[in-house]
Amino acid sequence: LLHWYHKQAKSYPWRISSDPYKIWLSEVMLQQTKIQTIAPYYDKWILALPNIQSVANTSIDNILKLWEGLGYYNRAKNFHKSCQIIINQFDGYLPQSPEVFQTLPGVGPYITAAVMSIAFNITMPSIDVNAIRFTSRFFAIKAIHNRSNKEIFEKLCILIDDNNPGDFNQAIMDLGREVCTMATPLCKTCPVHDNCLSYVNKSVNKYPDVIKKSIKPKYHVAIGIIWQNGKILITKRLPNKLLGGMWEFPGGKVENQETSEECLA
Ligand code: ADE
Repeated sequence: LLHWYHKQAKSYPWRISSDPYKIWLSEVMLQQTKIQTIAPYYDKWILALPNIQSVANTSIDNILKLWEGLGYYNRAKNFHKSCQIIINQFDGYLPQSPEVFQTLPGVGPYITAAVMSIAFNITMPSIDVNAIRFTSRFFAIKAIHNRSNKEIFEKLCILIDDNNPGDFNQAIMDLGREVCTMATPLCKTCPVHDNCLSYVNKSVNKYPDVIKKSIKPKYHVAIGIIWQNGKILITKRLPNKLLGGMWEFPGGKVENQETSEECLA
């Protein structure tokens, strides 16, 4: 697996760097977002905010502007708060202890394992959907898509390379995204197919168990575009609500058979 990774791994900007701040930022951006999407955001961010201190010092408006379009804005808000905590409580250095790092806002088990392994060579498997799918097939485990899946964690602990945990984790992520894909896995080109239990048993398509996606709610909303003297009225969403701190045209959800005009009023 590592041989395959070292031969084919793409050199993303955050992979060239050994700066823990940049590795952390990339992992936060990559959570929930496709790798091709984040490259321009990452470059723009690093140019504007090259280190933890600059993030801590900047305004939340600037943070949200740089994040605009990436979605899941709590990631950016938590990153901002975490950088301020690091400056105020940890002398500006990203904690090298998983237990301490994990106390920062927005830092869960996946981010902890990814950053600790890539930046500090600490042996921790990072478990995302790709790692779950790969491990489920490799060991023929009917895993559910749950990151705290104990069995997946234990199996990955057996496989992970203590000398190179960061590359191991990234290799699994790459393999899951490019080879061991959900719909059409490219098993013939997989570097570890000889050891993959479900491949050997010709049952790759049975793993992992598919989970039903929750249905996205849909709302009808009304917004007003109100202008005067060459200026347009925009309002800021409340900080602790969905998309808090973002700017929008004034408006709201249409309720109880009201018309858009009534809703707006
Ligand atoms: N997905 C999330 N983090 C990643 C990384 N470091 N490399 C490749 N894919 C990823």
